[in-house]
Amino acid sequence: MHSRRHPIRNAILVIVGFVALAGEVGAADLVAPSVQKTLEASFSAKGQATLARLAQDKTQGLCTHYATSPIPAKVVTEITAMGFATIKYPADGEYLGDWQRGEQIAQSGLGKQSSDDVEKPAGGNCYACHELTKAEIAHGNLGPSLYHYGKLHGDNDVVKKYTWGKIYNAEAFTACSSMPRFGHKGILTAAQMKDLMSLLFDPRSPVNQ
Ligand code: HEC
Repeated sequence: MHSRRHPIRNAILVIVGFVALAGEVGAADLVAPSVQKTLEASFSAKGQATLARLAQDKTQGLCTHYATSPIPAKVVTEITAMGFATIKYPADGEYLGDWQRGEQIAQSGLGKQSSDDVEKPAGGNCYACHELTKAEIAHGNLGPSLYHYGKLHGDNDVVKKYTWGKIYNAEAFTACSSMPRFGHKGILTAAQMKDLMSLLFDPRSPVNQ
């Protein structure tokens, strides 16, 4: 079994093992220098995908640390509080944009791969993990279905604020979420997030049909 493991997976297991031994996790001492060197030797920089992507931030470090064991309650609180502190709500107080543009953003997985044009806006790739409309049957199910999202959750500012925050930084609500931190990591702009909000909330959006 062990010999059939993928080298990258082995390297990740080594990191998890090392970090588990290391006790307290800081951003700088997450990975042993020798492990980091092996990792860096296993990947090559291509386009925008530079080796800087191998450096984990504090949240990722903690999630790696607890990848194979339950996350203690105080660490959950630490991760969600760190996530929450990053959220920037729209300066104009307006959460909504254009659902048709939102649908295109939800469909697009372009933007962060080594071969993608950095000058072009990134997509959200929401369908990779969520069902949104009934028309798109090629969707993943790692995340919950968002079909009828607005219809089910209503149209009040509390739920809009939560949803904005969730898209901005999912870690604020679910420690070690697999959902990308779209706002916090600068993947999507505020305007793009507003378009996605409309896809979820606009009664005319196919999400709510
Ligand atoms: C890699 C998988 C993944 C991607 C891509 C992803 N999500 Fe998620 N999403 C999740 C998971 C998993 C959850 C469940 C809660 C959690 O673990 O954070 C979730 C939860 C949510 C929720 C909260 C639902 C609720 O009922 O509280 C919303 C809203 C949401 N996602 C919107 C989006 C949007 C919009 C996009 C695209 C910009 C997106 N997600 C992309 C995995 C993903």
